[in-house]
Amino acid sequence: MRISIGTDHRGYEIRSKLIELVERLGHEVEDVGAFTDEASDYPDLAAEVAGKVSRGEVDRGILVCGTGLGMCIAANKFPGVRAAPCHDDLTAEMSRRHNDSNILCLSADLLGGRLIDRMVELWLATPFEGGRHARRVEKIRNLERAIEKERGHAS
Ligand code: RB5
Repeated sequence: MRISIGTDHRGYEIRSKLIELVERLGHEVEDVGAFTDEASDYPDLAAEVAGKVSRGEVDRGILVCGTGLGMCIAANKFPGVRAAPCHDDLTAEMSRRHNDSNILCLSADLLGGRLIDRMVELWLATPFEGGRHARRVEKIRNLERAIEKERGHAS
């Protein structure tokens, strides 16, 4: 798969290991930065990755900030993006099985390196179950369409 990866300054320390891992697992990485450990604003990096996922330019994305939360909030503004803030094996796995998450949001401050590796591997390998979950995910997309339509009428 093509995976876009973005980190802010809090994620900078783990970013090269993360990229190496994803490549070692056989995926192509689109690295959007940040390329230095100087303070950067997580919405900018989230927009780079989520924009690519939303436009179908990559299959999925991984975002890392201090908590994983700011990245997730920003990424979920993009149509078709289902960004999940995961903090253990189970949330990483279930976000794929039930929610078809297409962006994994991780906390550099709260998660250890080994746990992150395991979660990333699991998240990349776990399929979406479909079935009743597909109906629910489609309802999320319908919510986006309804909001887009309402805004279209309002402007
Ligand atoms: C940066 O200080 C920090 O706020 C950011 O990395 C992230 O945790 C935001 O949610």
